[in-house]
Amino acid sequence: MELYNDNPTIDFLKSDKKIDENRQGEAFKEIGEVLDPKKKNFYIESYGCSMNFSDSEIVASILLDNGYQPTKNMEIADLILINTCSIREKAEDTVRKRLRIFDKVKKNRPGTLVGVLGCMAERLKKKLLEQEKLVDLVVGPDAYRDLPKLISTAEDGDKGVNVFLSREETYADISPIRLQSNGVTAFISIMRGCDNMCSFCVVPFTRGRERSRDTFSIVAEATQLFNNGFREVTLLGQNVDSYKWENPETKETVNFAQLLEAVAKVNPLLRIRFSTSHPKDITDEVLTTMASYENICKYIHLPVQSGNSRVLGLMNRTYDREWYMERVNKIYEIMPDCAISSDIIAGFCTETEEEHQDTLSMIEFSRYIISYMFVYSERPGTPAAKKYKDDVPHETKKRRLHEIIMLQGKVSLETNQADIGKTFKVLIEGSSKRSDADFKGRNSQNKMVIFPKVDGYKPGDYIPVLIKKVTSATLLGEAQINE
Ligand code: 5AD
Ligand code: SF4
Repeated sequence: MELYNDNPTIDFLKSDKKIDENRQGEAFKEIGEVLDPKKKNFYIESYGCSMNFSDSEIVASILLDNGYQPTKNMEIADLILINTCSIREKAEDTVRKRLRIFDKVKKNRPGTLVGVLGCMAERLKKKLLEQEKLVDLVVGPDAYRDLPKLISTAEDGDKGVNVFLSREETYADISPIRLQSNGVTAFISIMRGCDNMCSFCVVPFTRGRERSRDTFSIVAEATQLFNNGFREVTLLGQNVDSYKWENPETKETVNFAQLLEAVAKVNPLLRIRFSTSHPKDITDEVLTTMASYENICKYIHLPVQSGNSRVLGLMNRTYDREWYMERVNKIYEIMPDCAISSDIIAGFCTETEEEHQDTLSMIEFSRYIISYMFVYSERPGTPAAKKYKDDVPHETKKRRLHEIIMLQGKVSLETNQADIGKTFKVLIEGSSKRSDADFKGRNSQNKMVIFPKVDGYKPGDYIPVLIKKVTSATLLGEAQINE
């Protein structure tokens, strides 16, 4: 699973035969080029975190209900949307470049509307409309229901803007249209927003306050996906461990461990993953629930950000090095076969060389199978931008990041080498990118496994695979089937 993506995803609307559920099937059967001439076409690109990709599926659902159909060809689109990310400056730069490209399409096809959705819409609001004359719609993450109205405003020649952040909106009743689907794995958004206020992060400002989605609607969505042939769901939230939903009738509350259990019970053949966990909130109850269900994957994305307690304090992560190490020890104690991954920021304000060394030693200690690694990028309006000086020289940040990447590569390779000779239950996701003769899939630990295809097996099937060779990114093996 790609957690962050600063690159375009223009092949977003690839169809998949497995999506056979009423409207979903309808939405995709025409992709191939035969579009209904009576309908308007929309084209959508997504950037950033999995949550953004999941949001684009909600947007697609709303547009479908309003007479639009998706196209993967922006040249014929009546509506071009870009779902944006603000987390780092680089992500915003990429979006600006894409807007220039869309402007060219617009010139060739007058009347085409261009809309900016998501975090950048929220952060830059009117500025986007004033500076970027090419934008007709600016729609924040909580305003997607308003899209049809905003589109007609824009069609009348005005700008359609809604960046109102809600305390309640969870889009619980909207059944997402599975864009870019392989028909096997899907995201389910379980909460929105974030209340944590990590000092470097724009998310609390762009996505607003934390709110959890109705448990029943989550279980219903998982059940529907399973019935449509999907075999893996990833429960998404900025901080899933603080999931909390109160049943308005019984007043009973459901926490994340209970939600996990409810989704795990949908069917033993449905795998459950989740992201992202916050080290301060992940409870022993969550860990024991994971251990109790074979279909809850033994993989936790547990971003450390820094391995040093002083820096963690400045980051307002509300845990220190010792707390984090205790959580890691507990995970391995309860689930010896669990894999952990992380997010790491190099060169946060005032970080010293010794403090950077603490981050390196944390990678070795935690045995991350993979990390998403970034240089610190100051974001306007965040507590860090207001309170601290971004004083680590860019060259130093880059060098520290390089050291982190090199060490993580070595640890990833070592954790993969330890898998040689083991047999894993792999969920087949499709053909390998490199060779049509091979399948790709993942094991419970979220490692990508490549192996020669076997007759009678198809995407969505589970298969035992013996690992023979590895790289730092992939396990290579052979299916263990008794003929
Ligand atoms: N600079 C660099 N990385 C950041 N992240 C969030 N904000 C920033 C920033 N200002 C990283 C964190 C977070 C991930 C989603 O992006 O590591 O976990
Ligand atoms: Fe940002 Fe921290 Fe919330 Fe993650 S937990 S979205 S890093 S504020």
